[in-house]
Amino acid sequence: MSESTLLGRLDETTRIAREKSSRGGAFVPPRVGLVLGSGLGGFADTLENLVKVPYQELPHLPSSTVVGHSGNLCFGSVGGVPVVCMQGRVHLYEGHPVESVVHGARTMARLGASSILITNAAGGIEAGWAPGDLMVLSDHLNLTGQSSLVGPNEDALGPRFPDMSAAYDPGLREAAHRVAKEAGFSLREGVYAGLLGPTYETPAEIRMLRTMGAHAVGMSTVLETIALRHMKVKVGALSCITNLAAGISKTELNHAEVEETARASRDKLVALLRGWIVAAGAQ
Ligand code: HPA
Repeated sequence: MSESTLLGRLDETTRIAREKSSRGGAFVPPRVGLVLGSGLGGFADTLENLVKVPYQELPHLPSSTVVGHSGNLCFGSVGGVPVVCMQGRVHLYEGHPVESVVHGARTMARLGASSILITNAAGGIEAGWAPGDLMVLSDHLNLTGQSSLVGPNEDALGPRFPDMSAAYDPGLREAAHRVAKEAGFSLREGVYAGLLGPTYETPAEIRMLRTMGAHAVGMSTVLETIALRHMKVKVGALSCITNLAAGISKTELNHAEVEETARASRDKLVALLRGWIVAAGAQ
């Protein structure tokens, strides 16, 4: 298959990822894929039978330039469920073409993952929410000004006009709440506004987003979700509310704070992700 087509590039990345991750042994197709956002990459190191393949060794997968995002495609398992995991992701604001931004997510789907769980760091818009809260996405607003599906449609991946009426799988959303409850905490749920960045928003933009129905805001996730729904992959997504959004927060926003809060929520997040992966693997 030619590298001049999306399918050709995807198949090349997938083939090399299989080879590198199986190290000469049999390749075990992952059931669940995971995208780890800002400050959340440490989860990959908790996988059983972990094998890491650096993005640099995989064609067409760009490496992130953002602090807190190391770049490895990680293979392993969680409670017996075979998992593939992106430790670090790239963002549109880094200047990568949209195809590159979603290439890792598409690769995980082509490797076999039928459910993909996406995590991100986000600013909280909803009154009463606090840094450290975790929010399951019920829906999103794609305000990046881009779509992962612009260009000729790749019919082998999915239809020209994919349905987005249940972008975030209802079964996975319900499973996240159940797992959190069993672990002794509760989750927020709401609409994630995905913006281009890289600036944080102005207070006026946050007021606009609240009027539009957003509960949290960030700079990722929506393009991956679009690419994955095109491929009919089930998507679950979770925001770690790392700060209150601009104008609500009394202090200046900065990336160090975002990373620090994400890390402080690590224990809750690890417990949740482990249970969520097992539930997703059983679906
Ligand atoms: N805005 C946008 N992206 C973010 C934020 C925010 O407040 N916090 C973490 N990622």
